[in-house]
Amino acid sequence: METKVLKIALDNLSQYEEELELAAACIREGGLVAFPTETVYGLGGDGLLKEASKKIYAAKGRPSDNPLIIHISDFDDVYKLASEVPDNAKKLMKAFWPGPVTLIFKKSDIVPYETTGGLDTVAIRFPIHPIARELIRRSGRYIAAPSANRSGRPSPTRAEHVVEDLSGNVDVIIDGGAVDIGLESTIIDMTADVPTILRPGFVTDDMIREVLGNVIYDPAILAKGIDEHMVAKAPGMKYKHYAPKAPLTIIEGDSEEVLSSFDRMIKDDRSKGLKVGAIVTDNIIDKIDADSVISLGDRDDYKAVSHNLFASLRQMDTDGVDVIYSVSFSDKALGMAIMNRLLKAAGYKVHHSS
Ligand code: TXA
Ligand code: MG
Repeated sequence: METKVLKIALDNLSQYEEELELAAACIREGGLVAFPTETVYGLGGDGLLKEASKKIYAAKGRPSDNPLIIHISDFDDVYKLASEVPDNAKKLMKAFWPGPVTLIFKKSDIVPYETTGGLDTVAIRFPIHPIARELIRRSGRYIAAPSANRSGRPSPTRAEHVVEDLSGNVDVIIDGGAVDIGLESTIIDMTADVPTILRPGFVTDDMIREVLGNVIYDPAILAKGIDEHMVAKAPGMKYKHYAPKAPLTIIEGDSEEVLSSFDRMIKDDRSKGLKVGAIVTDNIIDKIDADSVISLGDRDDYKAVSHNLFASLRQMDTDGVDVIYSVSFSDKALGMAIMNRLLKAAGYKVHHSS
């Protein structure tokens, strides 16, 4: 399949009628369109069309029991896709939609099991990104869209990442530039007795608590790993995720000790002839001597770190390193989402320096 890449400048959408119409028509015809959202790029297809969902799984190489999120462009759409909308969910919709929050509901009959990975629940998100909204609206469909990466790879935060992973497997890629947040949406299960966070994101537990009073984390998130006794509620949690090609180890500890750990481990690996990558922050970048050194930004600027994380993991692949070491972050606020992705990318390998 030949993939069309359509460049669209965000600040002047009205100039791109033709491109947007072409992409919308593609969705209507059952094709696949990758598009930017405020979190990461999505790989979209008609969410109510079994064949489109099957194509999405095939294009990503994704296991078919890992459900897709359906993207909407209007509040009322929820009532068509969900059979029940609890009051708590209405509060969250009012507070955070459109925006980087996905809510899980009991599904209505129109949602095919091909889209929900066989589940009786459906994940729904109303994105705020203007291109995403316009594509959904124009297509006149609900758009099922997982992140637009090959299964297991870091989520794409720029169109080039999508081209890298999916070129030849999708009809259209809309290039709307780098996304804003850089980490996928916060997922909250609204079918549980107490609303439960299945994936931490830009909207934090504290922000949700301010609206609902109470929200809990799925134990699999807090356990920082899933053992076989723990059932993964978001089926996606049990799969290897975000992983760069080279093995990644997170180095935890206080700043002085972290530096000497980096130093020792890098020297050690290099003496074995390995090419070493380091993912660090601005405050120590000058003190790290490795083959590829990337800063995620200011150590205290978690928005910058989120924005840069996935691109940095991909850059390590491009640089062809054999091993990667990364700094660690606190799991306060947005740090929770950052560490969740970083730990998965590392397969939970953490070196405690002390
Ligand atoms: O920010 C985002 O959410 C991006 C953009 C494109 O919107 N999408 C995204 O989709 O991250 P994906 O497919 O990469 O991740 C969706 C996650 C998976 O872990 C999946 O298991 C979970 O949502 N999920 C989807 N439907 C679910 C359901 N009914 N119950 C529980 N988990 C569900
Ligand atoms: Mg994904």
